Amino acid sequence: MSDLLSVTIAGTGSYLPERVMTNDDLAQIVDTSDEWITSRTGIKERRIAAEDETTSDMATAAARKALEQSGVAVEDIDMIIVATITPDTLTPATACYVQDNLGARQAMAFDISAACSGFLYAMKMAKRMIASGAIQNALIIGAEKLSAFTNWTDRNTCVLFGDGAGAAVMRAAQPGEGSIIATDIGSDGAQTDILNIPGGGSRCPITLENANDHLATLGMQGREVFKHAVTRMKNAANAVIERAGWAAEDIALVIPHQANLRIIDAIADRLSVPNERVFVNLHKYGNTSAAAVAIALDEAHREGAFKKGDKIVLVVFGAGLTWAAAAIQW
Ligand code: ACO
Repeated sequence: MSDLLSVTIAGTGSYLPERVMTNDDLAQIVDTSDEWITSRTGIKERRIAAEDETTSDMATAAARKALEQSGVAVEDIDMIIVATITPDTLTPATACYVQDNLGARQAMAFDISAACSGFLYAMKMAKRMIASGAIQNALIIGAEKLSAFTNWTDRNTCVLFGDGAGAAVMRAAQPGEGSIIATDIGSDGAQTDILNIPGGGSRCPITLENANDHLATLGMQGREVFKHAVTRMKNAANAVIERAGWAAEDIALVIPHQANLRIIDAIADRLSVPNERVFVNLHKYGNTSAAAVAIALDEAHREGAFKKGDKIVLVVFGAGLTWAAAAIQW
């Protein structure tokens, strides 16, 4: 099916909570060290939301910045998608809280649960809706309060995650504007056990008996996840690069999911893209799941790490397993 309209990203925004938690702070809570965390992951610090700060609060703050940059009026937003695995409530969707906060009254609003891949899943859905003419303007957001779903006594996981939100406003491209050239998206439901929040859903409700078992926190078989992450991200990135008809040397910047510097280095190596053309901010924020690539896109954009006309590749991987990539000519 060929798209009727090209679709562009008109504005980006992000929000990080004020509180900084360093590796040394974590070493006060669990048996770990700055040296271990830095050498295994590349993370130096992460942001932690205030107790009364919700995923939708962070999503709203990021969205306001994206809207401001895009020039699209909030009344003209037709669809809001929030990608999150840490929603304000199981229902209603976090996107509905965001809609109310923004006053985006004509928008449909719903969440996508695709873990770290959610923002690019949302981008693909919005692209198709706009390209087909079903809607005109979409607001997509990746937002997470992972600190509320972290087992703070488990050093295997608590050192990895952080809170934050990133957003983008999408609309049909005008002549001369850049566009999203290609997307690739996939899942492997046979791997649900290696990265999950096992409790708190209908499969395993939290009860008085299991309330202290940390079932509603993120669990992970790190080594397994690592292997899948490298292969799936490499394949997804290569798929969009090929579909776009680009070569590695054409790419101005790769913006990968920010989970682990060793994974990012392995991807850069397999794509034959030098490290200086790969965007990294996980030393500041850790892994913010669905928010990570959205925050990175906004930071790279505002820092001038790419400019109009540049070819960039976004690539992500997360629980599900899920993965996705997008080739964008800015
Ligand atoms: N501090 C000190 N020691 C630690 C810590 C810590 N924070 N955590 C684990 N260790 C110890 C372990 O206990 C183990 O000790 P042992 O050998 O005595 O048993 C040793 O360090 C090695 O542990 P591994 O888990 O094998 O360490 P590894 O080198 O694999 O690194 C890590 C772990 C960082 C989690 C890595 O596997 C990884 O990054 N995996 C991928 C994560 C990812 O990509 N996630 C993306 C999706 S996230 C999402 O969707 C929400």
